[in-house]
Amino acid sequence: MSRGAVHPWPGVARPRAARRCIRLGLVALMGCGTKEGDDDVQQSVFDVLSGDALQALVVAMGADRSPVVDETNRWSGDAEAAALGEALFFDRRLSGSGGVSCGDCHLLDLHFTDGLPLPRVDGAPAGARHTPSVLNAGLQRWQFWDGRCDTLWCQATGPIESPLEMNLGRADLGRVLLNAPDLRDPYLTLAGLPDELAAIADEGEVGLPTALLDTDRFPAGARPMPEAPEAPEALAWATMAPEDQAAATRLLVDLAKLIAAYEGQLVSGPAPIDAYAAALAADDPAAASAALSPAAARGLLRFVTDGQCVLCHTGPLLSNLEFEAVGLPAATGADPDDTGRYDGALRLQAQAFNAAGPWSDAPEGEAAARLAVLRTDSTTLAHFKVPSLREVAATAPYMHTGQLVDLRAVVDHYVEMDDEQPLGSRSPLLAPLDWSDDDRADVVAFLQSLSGDSAAAPAWGAPTRSVGRSKPRSGLSSPRSAPPSGSADADHRP
Ligand code: HEC
Ligand code: HEC
Repeated sequence: MSRGAVHPWPGVARPRAARRCIRLGLVALMGCGTKEGDDDVQQSVFDVLSGDALQALVVAMGADRSPVVDETNRWSGDAEAAALGEALFFDRRLSGSGGVSCGDCHLLDLHFTDGLPLPRVDGAPAGARHTPSVLNAGLQRWQFWDGRCDTLWCQATGPIESPLEMNLGRADLGRVLLNAPDLRDPYLTLAGLPDELAAIADEGEVGLPTALLDTDRFPAGARPMPEAPEAPEALAWATMAPEDQAAATRLLVDLAKLIAAYEGQLVSGPAPIDAYAAALAADDPAAASAALSPAAARGLLRFVTDGQCVLCHTGPLLSNLEFEAVGLPAATGADPDDTGRYDGALRLQAQAFNAAGPWSDAPEGEAAARLAVLRTDSTTLAHFKVPSLREVAATAPYMHTGQLVDLRAVVDHYVEMDDEQPLGSRSPLLAPLDWSDDDRADVVAFLQSLSGDSAAAPAWGAPTRSVGRSKPRSGLSSPRSAPPSGSADADHRP
């Protein structure tokens, strides 16, 4: 127990069966168990974890992860909207070049990541933060590493317009839809004709207003760019009439909400840790031994005791859903001045697409209420979101900088804790650990037990979806949404 920081469970009850091993402390338990064989390790770990405080923490890891309805998105939970959203997610027509989709960075068969330290588009750097998985994102409180969005649909508006990512202006969206009946028709079926679009329609017009094709009113590439107000796209946006701006923004928001309806269903399947948590809740040591290997069980014990990992990585996503700093040194390609949550919170407050804003379907709801108590002081400088550890074994490399190549490197980082962050300071909860090589391997084994059976996951991983990357499963694909000759995705691989 090398950490000076508070131990959160001073009075953990230790059942008699484990006492002989526990006497000399946790480290002795590990050694003791190993000497006496695997069954004994399993039983001893089970007994320690059965103490009230620890049991609650482990059982919470197995808590419900079913998709939740986002009340700020009227299409959240709607299967038809999700099907259209899925097609949009993999559709490259939603980009300025016609060559990039969400699915090109969040690759289906890489668990919706890109496998790269930092993102690339056509081989060129496309951002200074690592691409996280989209799995379970709908269960998070904040989106992006800095939480600058509080809903999935707010998030999705970003990459569509970002010059580094899909680079499509919202003024272009009407043209994209009018030229893609496979997207336009289901959109109109779901949305009807939204007020902002009806307002610019000519008399007698049915469907999307043809005014959207007019490049004088809807200049190519036009979009608001608060961070680059002199950019041609931003200047073009400023020339647009307010009602045309509202129509273009409505399309952006609606497409983002459809994509979010799809993403909201992407929940990872049951993993060994869930079986272990259930066994612990049912006080069934045999089921527990069947769920985790002795190494993984020992790793779990480390995770919730001297490692103190569970202070941040807690609950069903193994994340407290908030922000922290873990003492990462500067990394190639990352921004050493990245302020993380500090600017993320300010940007969220100023964000027109936040949960309390005019485009939200529940501006008075629960998500909106969180904005009223948003922490915007400098204590969050260079803090980044505590990532979910579900499926973590499949989503290397790690951290917001993508600088740690595998799980062993992550565990080594937490054990050594000898680096200086370029900005801000690391959490006081973190200090070096005196873990042996075997201890570290145990924790890696535990982290591997957080991966589930993707075939059993509700909305992804079904065989039809894993065939071919970046292609919608449904019949909504188009020539431009299919990968160009060769595999475009190869560019996005390490
Ligand atoms: C160029 C690669 C790229 C493209 C294209 C892209 N993303 Fe991402 N995505 C990223 C990166 C990088 C981040 C993290 C950025 C940050 O935190 O600042 C991210 C973050 C996210 C997150 C937040 C996850 C979390 O845990 O915070 C979601 C959800 C997401 N993207 C969905 C999408 C959707 C939907 C699209 C298409 C509309 C899309 N992405 C297009 C690279 C990409
Ligand atoms: C003080 C809170 C805190 C504690 C304690 C903590 N973590 Fe983390 N963890 C984080 C944060 C924050 C990140 C993301 C950091 C970043 O990218 O800047 C992270 C990232 C990770 C990742 C990478 C996930 C990914 O997808 O990139 C793993 C794995 C991980 N932690 C495991 C552990 C283990 C094992 C322990 C215990 C030894 C631990 N953590 C303790 C907050 C914490």
